[in-house]
Amino acid sequence: MQLDTFEVQYSPPYVGWLLAFKHKHMMNNFSQDLLVWYNENKRNLPWRDTQDPYKIWLSEIILQQTRVEQGRAYYEKFLRTFSNVHEMAEATEKEILNLWQGLGYYSRARNLHKASRQVVNDYRGEFPDSFQELKKLKGVGPYTAAAIASFAFGERVPVVDGNVYRFLGRYLELDEPVNTPKAYKLFFEAARELMERVDPAQFNQAVMECGALICKPKNVQCMLCPVQESCGAFNAGRVDQYPVKPVKTKVQNRYLYYFIVEEESSVLLKLRNEKGIWQHLYEFPCIETTKPLSLVGLTDKAIDQDFIQSRKSVLTEIGEERLHKLSHRNLHARFFQVTQAQPDRDSVFVPYDDLKEYPLSRLMDRFIEEEKPHYYAQK
Ligand code: ADE
Repeated sequence: MQLDTFEVQYSPPYVGWLLAFKHKHMMNNFSQDLLVWYNENKRNLPWRDTQDPYKIWLSEIILQQTRVEQGRAYYEKFLRTFSNVHEMAEATEKEILNLWQGLGYYSRARNLHKASRQVVNDYRGEFPDSFQELKKLKGVGPYTAAAIASFAFGERVPVVDGNVYRFLGRYLELDEPVNTPKAYKLFFEAARELMERVDPAQFNQAVMECGALICKPKNVQCMLCPVQESCGAFNAGRVDQYPVKPVKTKVQNRYLYYFIVEEESSVLLKLRNEKGIWQHLYEFPCIETTKPLSLVGLTDKAIDQDFIQSRKSVLTEIGEERLHKLSHRNLHARFFQVTQAQPDRDSVFVPYDDLKEYPLSRLMDRFIEEEKPHYYAQK
């Protein structure tokens, strides 16, 4: 095989490819060039000045949910409240959910709490120090485990996230659709080869940083890239074709009809028990359907469910339909103020002033913040 052209098949078991790959990256200094660039250009981020696995774990879980600028504020807020894993483990789930409010995807917050208790109960308060063992913590997948293992303990294990799929996908022209187990293995092996002779913590940070600042999804900054010269996609003029997207699953529509029931300065909330991303969050009582309903259809359904007794109840729509997009669902939410409702036993009236103590979905949060001043003030 001609190694210097580096034209090989990237299909498992990758042996031929890896040999060629090794040959290539020994000839040009991908890792060294990248690290020089990183040390001159890295952003000053609070979780970069530490090897404390608790802080690294916390930052990585938050950063899976939001961008760096917003993540920094949440990171500092969490650390101010719980300066170590013991303090977090002693908190209630509700305290954690409240601090998490605004980030969405609350199961991450719940897992954060569970993992803190695991560390305290199963590991005597010390984070496990290996990639394999870290993956046993709730909510800690291969990405987070690799981040903690490399940043805190120097383990030679690569992080594979969106930045890595994009950056290495372009650099090596890896045509495997990303976000599949097969792609993960391929990128993991490739990154592991590349990090062989450099500091794993620096390498992982540098790949992510270059992916975030230079090798971006849009406005890619090839002219500033430290490894432009040897980048496969750049040289082929195909930067925009990576990472190769996986085949999309079909997004489903769901229709949510929320009922605002008020009593003096309180509003009715109900705990959502159904499995899903909003499980254990509070919301207005809700009817959920797979097809849109007319106002008459909605009224009939509310009567069927004993939520209202008759058509005498008045449903006044507040605001406009809101579209809330999740990866697999488009939620179409409408909100109605209702008279003469019959709350069921699982609902509670909560004073508007106390709402911040209840974990709410982002959809609910936004609705209340934006619309409440209009409908509530008129009473
Ligand atoms: N995104 C996810 N993890 C990160 C980190 N450690 N530094 C910067 N951006 C990140």
